[in-house]
Amino acid sequence: MDLTTGLESSSLLREVEGVPLFAATADNWSQIQNFEAKPDDLLICTYPKSGTTWIQEIVDMIEQNGDVNKCQRAVIQQRHPFIEWARPPQPSGVKNAEAMPSPRILRTHLPTQLLPLSFWKKDCKFLYVARNGKDCMVSYYYFQKMNQMLPDPGTWEEYFEKFTKGKVNWGSWYDHVKGWWEIKERYKVLFIFYEDIKKDPKNEIRKVMQFMGKNLDETVLDKIVHETSFEKMKENPMTNRSTVPKSILDQSISPFMRKGTVGDWKNHFTVAQNEKFDEIYREKMGGTSINFCMEL
Ligand code: A3P
Repeated sequence: MDLTTGLESSSLLREVEGVPLFAATADNWSQIQNFEAKPDDLLICTYPKSGTTWIQEIVDMIEQNGDVNKCQRAVIQQRHPFIEWARPPQPSGVKNAEAMPSPRILRTHLPTQLLPLSFWKKDCKFLYVARNGKDCMVSYYYFQKMNQMLPDPGTWEEYFEKFTKGKVNWGSWYDHVKGWWEIKERYKVLFIFYEDIKKDPKNEIRKVMQFMGKNLDETVLDKIVHETSFEKMKENPMTNRSTVPKSILDQSISPFMRKGTVGDWKNHFTVAQNEKFDEIYREKMGGTSINFCMEL
């Protein structure tokens, strides 16, 4: 453990303004910060493990008017450039975004304070998906176990400490959701919840459609609900990450499409951890009006 940062003494992550990021992202920081957004960009924003892949598939299905074949054109990771992505020799997220014709749909996990300024200046549209922190932590724990590009999460008890202290890639869950929640009235933000998509997918998909300025028939919306269900996406090679080599994502440790439920935290949190999480939540989130659904 590096005592100055509290991070594993691996070179995988490095802090930028106190937020741990991939070292290659930190190395490319000035290029990312100088990214030129365009006024008609739509940016999909999430904290990791909040349903990014799910909302990307929903957005793409809407964009393609429900045409499944068009959504099969590329794996989901490649359809929407990931602006802070840097893993040489692959082209960076910035380069991929620059090569994309407008109107562009991009994605990020960056907290508001690290977002390239041009997104604010150009008054872009932001689609934020939030997931309750307890389920996010469980999902991230399994993801760090199977993702060979991330530090080993350690035991569940150790991971609880890391997550609640924000010593994970992309930093503190609390700061992330709070930051995006607080700017939502000042910018063009559609803020939705993983749990609401789970509860009433058609309703949330309709909101996203309207935000994107599209108008699709009810039958198309029904088709999108069906095609973006957990079961369908789990068997879809374009969304389930099965094309990623095992040396990067080892799905024999934990599948990428793991459970897709609300409330799995109850199978992992001890009573003491639950109380501790709630206490930290009150400290960190006091004063915000955000309300999370913890079970369905
Ligand atoms: P679990 O690990 O709890 O199963 P991200 O794409 O941001 O990495 O988020 C991954 C999480 O979203 C995983 O959660 C994954 O199973 C879940 N997920 C992906 N597609 C989903 C879908 N169609 N319905 C519900 N959950 C989905």
